[in-house]
Formats: sequence, structure tokens, C-alpha cells
Amino acid sequence: MYLSVLQRRDFSIPNLQIQVLLIAVSLFSCSFALKIGETCSSNSVCNSGLTCQTCPANGNTRPRCARIQPMNPTSKVKGLAFNKYSWLTTHNSYSLAGAKPAFGSILLSPRNQEDSVTDQLKNGVRGLMLDMYDFNNDIWLCHSTGGKCFNFTAFQPAINVLKEVQSFLEANPSEIVTIFIEDYVTSTQGLSKVFNASGLNKYRFPLSSIPKSGEDWPTVDDMVKNNQRLVVFTSKKDKEASDGIAYQWKYVVESQYGDEGMVAGSCTNRAESPALNTKTISLVLQNYFPTNPNLTEACMDNSAPLTKMLNTCSEAAGKRWPNFIAVDFYQRNDGGGAPEAIDEANGHLTCGCDNIAYCKENAKFGTCDVPSIAPPPPAAAEATPEPSQTSTNVGYMDRRPVLQWLFGTVLASTLLLR
Ligand SMILES: *[C@@H]1O[C@H](CO)[C@@H](O)[C@H](O)[C@H]1NC(C)=O
Ligand SMILES: *[C@@H]1O[C@H](CO)[C@@H](O)[C@H](O)[C@H]1NC(C)=O
Ligand SMILES: *[C@@H]1O[C@H](CO)[C@@H](O)[C@H](O)[C@H]1NC(C)=O
Repeated sequence: MYLSVLQRRDFSIPNLQIQVLLIAVSLFSCSFALKIGETCSSNSVCNSGLTCQTCPANGNTRPRCARIQPMNPTSKVKGLAFNKYSWLTTHNSYSLAGAKPAFGSILLSPRNQEDSVTDQLKNGVRGLMLDMYDFNNDIWLCHSTGGKCFNFTAFQPAINVLKEVQSFLEANPSEIVTIFIEDYVTSTQGLSKVFNASGLNKYRFPLSSIPKSGEDWPTVDDMVKNNQRLVVFTSKKDKEASDGIAYQWKYVVESQYGDEGMVAGSCTNRAESPALNTKTISLVLQNYFPTNPNLTEACMDNSAPLTKMLNTCSEAAGKRWPNFIAVDFYQRNDGGGAPEAIDEANGHLTCGCDNIAYCKENAKFGTCDVPSIAPPPPAAAEATPEPSQTSTNVGYMDRRPVLQWLFGTVLASTLLLR
């Protein structure tokens, strides 16, 4: 509207004024943060919940704003059973790109994520995969081999990350978090002690309340009301008796991890898990990450191939959409990514639509409100002409939107009124 007025008048305005006008217009347009798919110059020019990224592995070198957060499913569709939602899960959540060795001079372990567990939780991650070991007279997060932690594979004491989870649960009283422990702890009640010390015990969902024969879990509302907002699973069977921690594959079916789990068109259980279509087990976990984490390829893996696998795995699980989707570098994508996969799974799970964004309030299951242009725009699309180079290169302006807006409007109206 605004622009068409300008176009009609611009032939009558001298050159200099046109330039000033264009500056005003770009100031005006840049007062609005950029949307998904729009060309960007830095994270700060994108709307919140988006970062500015490229995906050369997919041939996409145009920096554009991309999602790093799924929709909060329990805010959109309220009060369903815990197993009627899908939760974004980070593989090796603690194995961070910026991690420094705790001992000695090298940390040899490959890295799987980029931001802290606190930031992951802020971005909507609700499942954490943590490898725990006895180490240095404590329980440590290590990414190791042979069931033993070494100086060169040790990240940090588990209690640090558990305390981050504790702070999050305390500050967000209606959120639920699930921890999957890859458990190498052999010290007596080592896990109990570290959970006690972290202040997380009071949030634990009790082992005795976990559905045992494929029934629905309690509703998220009940879990919140009872403050049982931390679900913990271990990979060691005997921890149920010794520490009261649920043995993962009694209650969760899980797909194959690593390269074998990324073969298009095939989704099978990992060796420790019962078959994916075991209906006496209520929760389904889909892994989708390569054997060797690969930052540059993650944007590609986490996009179209991930959503394809989502369909494959839901078929393999007896038409059940996964409750947890675990990825490396969860922020990296090329048009929607892991957040989009979670929204799609949540659409199917909560309201029978292709995306939770299409769910209608108080409507019958399967009643969908599909917008004419489905989000997100294809990442490979041409750069949208709207935001000019001038407007996108001035990231700092984003911090003072009202001032720019005023300045832009006043300048433009002054020129138009002449
Ligand atoms: C591990 O690091 C500690 C502290 O620097 C050192 O005392 C210890 O000898 C190291 N262990 C090995 C096996 O190198
Ligand atoms: C953990 O805390 C509970 C309750 O405070 C206590 O009964 C239990 O003995 C503690 N366990 C360990 C291993 O410290
Ligand atoms: C990541 O993948 C690229 C392309 O396939 C490959 O060249 C690179 O070596 C891989 N990096 C790692 C760390 O595996």
C-alpha cells in the first residue's frame, strides 16, 4: 500500500529525494524483524525463534532466517496425555561445540550440539540424552568408549547440567522434561545421589505410575498439577530396583541410531528396543543423526530427509507418530528442520492434522485449519525482493525498532507531503 503510493509519485520527485525516500523506506521496513526464509545478515535481524543460517551442503548459500524452535505443543492443544505429544530431543545434549577439556589439554570427543542445555530448553528442547559415567569420584557426562570415562573424553560433572534442568523446571512450572541416560554408572546409588544433590528428585515422575501395558500416560495437566514434571529413563535394567529409575526399553520403543538409522525408507528398532510396533509400549522415540556427528551436513539431514523418515517411522511404529525426535545440531536446518518435524508430529498426534499449526480449538479430531500458503516457505526459493541489501545489512538497527519506525515514517511523510 505504502509502496504503491511511492511508485505513483516517484517520477515527479527529483533524484536526491528518491534516494532519501528509499533510505526512509528501508529504515521503515527494517524496523520489522525478518521472517522465516528471508535473506538476513546476522541472527539479530531475524524474528525471535529464528537464526540466520546457510546450508551449503544442500546448495543453499543465501543466508536466511531459519527456525530453531518448535511450537509449544501444550499451549496450542492443551491437556492431552503425555504420550499424545512429540518432544524435541537433543542427542548428546551436553557434547557442546565450545566445550573445553576439564582435565589435560585435549577433549577428543566429537560434538553434537552448539548451545548450552539452558538455551536448548529455552528453545523448546524437552528431551535430553545424557551419557553418565563414574569419574573423578563423581558422576560425569562423558562421550567415551569401553564404558569408561577418560580425561580426554570428560565434559563436566553431571550435576552441573542437572542443575540447569532444575532451574528450568523451577522457572517454568508448566513444562515437562525427559532425560534419557546412557548409563555407565556402576557406583552404588550413584544416579540417586546425583539426582538428589541436583534438587531434581522432587520433580521425578514416579516409576510406579508409568503405564506398563501400552495405556495412555497421565495428562500433561496432571503431571504439572502433581509437579511430576521430570521423566527419567536409564539404559540399565537393574537401576529400577537400585535407584527407582525406569528402564528405557520397557516403556519406550526406539529406532536405530547412527548411519544405519538414516537409510531412506527404512525404520527399525535399535537392538535393545522391542519392535517399533509393540503396542504394549506407549512411547516412541525416533533417532535421526549420523554415526559421526557432522555440523556441515546437519542442516540437510535435519530437513526433508528427517520429515520423510518421520513418516517412515510412524508407519513402522504401527501408525504411531514419535513422541521424541532426537537429532544432532538441532538448530541447523534448511527450511523448518527439527522444529518443523516436531510440529508435524504434534499435528498428527494432537488433532489429526499435518501440522500442529493447523489444529483448531475445540474442534473434532481431524478438523484442520490449513492456511493457503503452508509454512515454512521452501528454503531453496529465490531471495524475496522485499528486504533490500540496505535494510538487511543493518543488523544493529533491530535494537531500536520504535525509533527507526518513527524516523522512517516522519522522513517519508515529510517527503510525500511536499
Ligand atoms: C587426568 O588429569 C588429572 C588432572 O590434570 C591428572 O592428575 C591425571 O594424572 C590425569 N590422568 C591421566 C590418566 O592422564
Ligand atoms: C535421596 O533423597 C531421599 C529423600 O531426601 C533419601 O531418602 C535418599 O536416601 C537419598 N538417596 C541417596 C542415594 O542419597
Ligand atoms: C561432514 O560431511 C562432509 C561432506 O560429506 C565431509 O566432507 C566431512 O568430512 C564430514 N565431516 C566430518 C567431521 O565427518
